[in-house]
Amino acid sequence: MPWPTEIEATSGRFPITPAFRFVWANYHDERLEAATDRALRKWEARTGLQFSRSAAEPGTSISLLIDVGGAGSKIEQPEEDESYVLDVVPTGVRLRAPTVPGAMHGLETLLQLLDGDGEGYFIPAVHIRDQPRFPWRGLLIDVSRHWQPTAVIERNLDAMATVKLNVLHLHLSDDQGFRLESRRHPELQEKGADGRYFTQREMKDLIAYAFARGIRVVPEFDVPGHATSWLASHPELASLPGTYPTERRWGIFDPVLNPTDDRTYALLDDVFGEFAAVFPDPRFHIGGDENNGVQWKENPAIQAFIQEKNLHDNAGLHAFFNRRLSAILAKYGKRMIGWDEIFHPDLPSTTVIQSWRGAEALAETAKAGFSGLLSNGYYIDLIEPAAMHYRNDPVPANTTLTAEQQRRILGGEATMWSEWVSPENIDSRIWPRTAAIAERLWSPRTVVDIPDMYRRLADIGQRLEEAGSLHEKNYLAMLSRLGGDHLDAAQRSALRTFVELVEPVKEYRREDLQPNYDERTPLTGLADCARPDSSDARYFAAQIEALVFAAKSDAIDPMPELDRQLERWIAAARCVAEELPARSPRLRDAAPVAQQLLTAATIGRDALEAWRTGQGQYGGWRTTRLEKLALAAKDGPAAVEIPIIAALRLLVCAASVQPQRATLADAAWRQLVSTLAEPAKP
Ligand code: ACM
Repeated sequence: MPWPTEIEATSGRFPITPAFRFVWANYHDERLEAATDRALRKWEARTGLQFSRSAAEPGTSISLLIDVGGAGSKIEQPEEDESYVLDVVPTGVRLRAPTVPGAMHGLETLLQLLDGDGEGYFIPAVHIRDQPRFPWRGLLIDVSRHWQPTAVIERNLDAMATVKLNVLHLHLSDDQGFRLESRRHPELQEKGADGRYFTQREMKDLIAYAFARGIRVVPEFDVPGHATSWLASHPELASLPGTYPTERRWGIFDPVLNPTDDRTYALLDDVFGEFAAVFPDPRFHIGGDENNGVQWKENPAIQAFIQEKNLHDNAGLHAFFNRRLSAILAKYGKRMIGWDEIFHPDLPSTTVIQSWRGAEALAETAKAGFSGLLSNGYYIDLIEPAAMHYRNDPVPANTTLTAEQQRRILGGEATMWSEWVSPENIDSRIWPRTAAIAERLWSPRTVVDIPDMYRRLADIGQRLEEAGSLHEKNYLAMLSRLGGDHLDAAQRSALRTFVELVEPVKEYRREDLQPNYDERTPLTGLADCARPDSSDARYFAAQIEALVFAAKSDAIDPMPELDRQLERWIAAARCVAEELPARSPRLRDAAPVAQQLLTAATIGRDALEAWRTGQGQYGGWRTTRLEKLALAAKDGPAAVEIPIIAALRLLVCAASVQPQRATLADAAWRQLVSTLAEPAKP
């Protein structure tokens, strides 16, 4: 994962033995040497074998030939050739790539191919020819809302390389924090960061770390809105008089830079000029989103400026600001990127628009001659399932764009906004779901099989942990802390069973359910520990669908596994609801959720029993159970939801009308049950 462009299994295997030798042919440099060493260390850890690092002696057999054309560009570009060709035959492996980044991608693929059986470790014979579909495959990490230190960024860079992502977009300033040291204007981080920011030295090291893994670093400083952290030290640049301490909560705030004041541009020129030298990447992101215009409307001098300059309205003023910003950036050799809202025909055509509003906005961008990136549909902070992101194609098959316009869609970025993530749980919000997005951006458009994606996502989860991601390790540590010191092994196991069955609430729901938060609220509760896209729930839903929608010709017995599953969930829910709150105070708000799970799973057990009788049930039986399930589905202060409930609705409805199964065609039966099971519109 991501699935290669062309892959052909051939016959045989190449065994991995202690005699393994590699050589570099044609070109190699420090970057390739380090990447090769990282790959070999992973193989060594898995196999327990120790591989020679000295090149094969002439005349001896070579296990792995890494044949590379050249370094690739000094500063990686979207134009970089990232392709590679991998041939595994029973006598050895040959990796060919025109550039070092291509070779590094090939090494990642090779790492995923290692397999083992009774005969030992081996690589199956295969021919792979691979290259990315899109040149810009990114992950945004917001270090402003919740500060994310260097260690978090480094391990996520390693994970990104595993799935061939090539752009790290750092959201470095927002209302809540200004996260990079300015030497010209140290007041920015002194008043705007609570001491939590990257020094320039640290940032340069991070950029080098990323480059070593074939990843570009694109900085974002969000202006003119989302800029309270600038105003903390420069209140004179706000559009209304006042003092502007950094925000501690989330949302869209009124403070905005004053685009009619030359001092605003003087500061931006100083700071962007300084930062332009820190980041080698030619792109520089200025945000530009969600300026609500309130302060501009309320300031008569700003409205007069709009009249005087013939800018029409706030949008015209925003465009005026962006044109000046674009000119400042151009002076420092940078091309501007911003969110949808900066889109304006007067901007230089080199501007890149990043769409958080949708594929249509993105298509408009491309039609107007701008390059664009898709982030709408890749908002991993919204806790949606990987399948939803996977279906989201930057250039879908039914696109109305011409071939030339399609080429302007450079790719996309997953966005890890950090309102509700700490350095401890950020990995479990990013991974493994972002691997599905990485595949959408790398692999051919025709690679769309969702069950197959999920099967491979489970495997890549392990590879990501091997690379350094802590999505599994930190989850287990958080679970352990949540349970506290007084649980026995059975209770720990019940707690885990329960937590595996709940997901954090989606979209921005949490702000309503836990309204007393601020930036310092400990993110260590049930909703922080629970992970998106519960695989237990997904597996259960697949089994229930297989049961109730089995073709008439091969109607299947309710699987004993389903009974066992529901019994196990009932016991776990009972334990969490009744025993654990007395042992772990942190779990008190989990008890009502466990009670809801208990209700739901018990209804599931009864419905399975009813299905088994095959007799159907009267309408009141169904209605009562659907009502109870609706109550069990209600979220509360714990800010989690129980994803098995949709499948339980299906089971209840199917059981209630089961005698009709015999009289209906497969499609009509599916239609009947699905319609009955649809939740009532609120
Ligand atoms: C955004 O989500 N406002 C870019």
